[in-house]
Amino acid sequence: MDAAAYLRLRLYGLRESPTAFGSSHAEERHRPVAECRKWLEDSPQKEIFVGAFAGNVMIGQAALKRERTTNRKQRHKAWLWGMYVHPRYRSQGVGREIAVKLLQAARGMKGLEIIKLAATSTNNRALGLYRRVGFRHYATEPKALLVKGRYYDFEYLMIDVAGGKSKAKPKSGRLTDGK
Ligand SMILES: CC(C)(COP(=O)(O)OP(=O)(O)OC[C@H]1O[C@@H](n2cnc3c(N)ncnc32)[C@H](O)[C@@H]1OP(=O)(O)O)[C@@H](O)C(=O)NCCC(=O)NCCS
Repeated sequence: MDAAAYLRLRLYGLRESPTAFGSSHAEERHRPVAECRKWLEDSPQKEIFVGAFAGNVMIGQAALKRERTTNRKQRHKAWLWGMYVHPRYRSQGVGREIAVKLLQAARGMKGLEIIKLAATSTNNRALGLYRRVGFRHYATEPKALLVKGRYYDFEYLMIDVAGGKSKAKPKSGRLTDGK
């Protein structure tokens, strides 16, 4: 993927939709293209990037990032991250197509079972999109973002992409209090 095009749209999105992302334009605007390129070219078993194009202009993007941990017990999880569609191309199915592509790619990633994401609770458009492709809500983080003096909650959603193919057995049985 073209790192300069990726970064251009990412920076535009951070400025245009400040409450949609945990990061900010001010924090990322000096990021070197070379650093971004290295990150984009990281092992496909750890991260996947999807770009949507109109002609040769990038108009949409998102990434799947494996949980950053050396802990084996958590390697079955990844985050859907950085979803953005340029305002001129919204409500035409671009976001949905990106999400579906990432989910397809996730199903081909060895050992990956759970994809999680966080969206601002006021972001009905993003939440609607994620629910339509199968994500379900599992938690709310109050006051997750503070943007221009206003707090925003995060809604956490997840999807199980293993589809019953996981080798792990779900633990059943009742919790006891030891009495
Ligand atoms: C969220 C975003 C990526 C959606 O992209 P998009 O290309 O407009 O989305 P789509 O056209 O594919 O719409 C997909 C789904 O979103 C939902 N949706 C679209 N517009 C909506 C609206 N105004 N209100 C609620 N849901 C809406 C629908 O469920 C739609 O499903 P359908 O196609 O089955 O009807 C885009 O609006 C965006 O970049 N927003 C700013 C950044 C952002 O919020 N990123 C998400 C961070 S978590």
